[in-house]
Amino acid sequence: LKGHDHHMHKEIHEQPASLQMTLRGRVNAADRKFVLGGLTSLERQLPNVERALLFGCGSAWHAALIGEYMLEELASLPTSVEYASELRYRNPLIERGTLAVGVSQSGETADTLAALREVQTRGATTVGVVNAVGSSVARETDAGVYLHVGPEIGVASTKAFLGQVVVLAMLAGYMGRRRHLSDDRLIEFLEGLEALPDKVKEALETEQQMKELAYALCDREHWLYLGRGVNFPAALEGALKLKEVSYIHAEGLPAAEMKHGPIAMIDKGMPVVVLAPKDGVYSKVLSNIEEVRSRGARVIVVTSADDPELDQLAHDVVRVPETHSLLSPVVTSIPLQLLAYHAALAKGRDVDKPRNLAKSVTVE
Ligand code: BG6
Repeated sequence: LKGHDHHMHKEIHEQPASLQMTLRGRVNAADRKFVLGGLTSLERQLPNVERALLFGCGSAWHAALIGEYMLEELASLPTSVEYASELRYRNPLIERGTLAVGVSQSGETADTLAALREVQTRGATTVGVVNAVGSSVARETDAGVYLHVGPEIGVASTKAFLGQVVVLAMLAGYMGRRRHLSDDRLIEFLEGLEALPDKVKEALETEQQMKELAYALCDREHWLYLGRGVNFPAALEGALKLKEVSYIHAEGLPAAEMKHGPIAMIDKGMPVVVLAPKDGVYSKVLSNIEEVRSRGARVIVVTSADDPELDQLAHDVVRVPETHSLLSPVVTSIPLQLLAYHAALAKGRDVDKPRNLAKSVTVE
């Protein structure tokens, strides 16, 4: 464990290096290109791709939701995301030109594998976004991009989740390059990706603050996580991490949906974690923070903004570095992983092997 008490802690701290491996040889801002060797066999089919369908389970499904924003924004590709378990038992309509992307750390999740086989029989071109080399999903897809983050032992996914987000980002840029993405936007995105490992390293410096918050608040039974845009799925993932390893009830929501119901739950001191990087929806998120604060919530804000108004509004401000706006979930996720880890320890949980969970679920 090399100086770490748990695999989860080791894997959280490995992320600057593991993302470097994910990006290595694949992203080149100087040459303005993505090199995704695993997709070369699809070169002739890619011009016919008209839509993308992403699927997976758990954290992989959250990564796919982030991928949806990226594919739409960078590649102008209409994209939908499905739970693998739901996709397989419906009558999925696979139109011509569908690129189906299965996202899975293990490559062995039964629901994901079954969904893959289903869309394949219906004529989709399939791509695997997988960590485990030679796994079933990797073998059965037409093409793929490995995460290359190394083995993940902790049951709750951390480095594989961020690896999936980064691979989907590269896929979006790769498709964008073949479609409408301008050179300027392409270069900006490539540079954003290249800068990520250092930004993740900086975000890990929030650990002491997250540990103190975890110990101070771990007796609260219900937590909310809010975000907008790409940070909405990051909020879902933050809530899932807390549930998985600490068994505290948490829910992730799009920040603006609060007022349509969930705000009724807020009472004095309820922890609400808000993801508010400085991006196009920042001022909207500020209004959402006001809404929950005025109802008594204990507001913890993860942000890259240096804003006195925010300092006034939030009880705790957790600072992460600024990134390309589409890539911000990669840094906002770091303090949420640390919060979940320390909350689990504060509650005396078996953080690497949470009750009732398995690393890879090979039953339906
Ligand atoms: C689970 C794990 O049940 O499977 C999650 O507990 C994981 O952490 C999910 O995200 C999907 O696994 P995989 O291997 O398909 O990414």
